[in-house]
Amino acid sequence: MSVEVRIRPIEVKDLHHYIRWYADPEVALGAQGYTEDLNMDIVLRRHECDRAAGRLPFGIETQDGRLIGSIGVSEYSGSTGEASVVIMIGEKEFWGRGLGAQAIRLFVDKLFSEDANLRTITARIYSFNHRSVRCFLKAGFKCERVERSAAVVGGNVVDVVVMAIRRPGG
Ligand SMILES: CC(C)(COP(=O)(O)OP(=O)(O)OC[C@H]1O[C@@H](n2cnc3c(N)ncnc32)[C@H](O)[C@@H]1OP(=O)(O)O)[C@@H](O)C(=O)NCCC(=O)NCCS
Repeated sequence: MSVEVRIRPIEVKDLHHYIRWYADPEVALGAQGYTEDLNMDIVLRRHECDRAAGRLPFGIETQDGRLIGSIGVSEYSGSTGEASVVIMIGEKEFWGRGLGAQAIRLFVDKLFSEDANLRTITARIYSFNHRSVRCFLKAGFKCERVERSAAVVGGNVVDVVVMAIRRPGG
């Protein structure tokens, strides 16, 4: 399969896209479990926090340079060698074309190649998010466990599917 997306660090000039992307409840609930009214002050502050923590997300862009979403590390533990990732394709017309799975593969390869201590990459996915579960499966993740009633999304208690991929040969 040809790779149709690439990943590169998110820059300040990209941040205004988040305001539109997260205004869509399906995007916001799938990615973070709640909706919110974002503005430039908030996204800039979060960007600075991510930068300070050395955890800037990566933009997902098409080969012709259109930014369609982002992918990043939400949790990292050096002691267990585990990182957790979150992906979001905010431009919904690009859903269902295999681009999410491609971006995950690119990001997973990058994380493993840049951090020799990293053993396992996980994703925590709300159980209603079948599209995301399927996307991570295609990217090589396996279902590890289901955490019952582990989150509240839009006022409903939901299960969380924990998916994982291990360092190849590790
Ligand atoms: C999750 C997300 C990244 C997937 O991106 P994508 O580019 O659509 O993913 P892909 O096309 O690679 O894979 C999606 C798969 O789900 C399948 N799918 C779509 N709706 C589905 C459903 N209701 N049930 C089961 N599978 C479904 C698609 O058919 C596709 O599988 P296929 O290629 O075998 O046909 C994107 O939908 C998104 O950003 N959602 C909002 C944020 C989010 O939920 N993030 C996940 C948090 S970790």
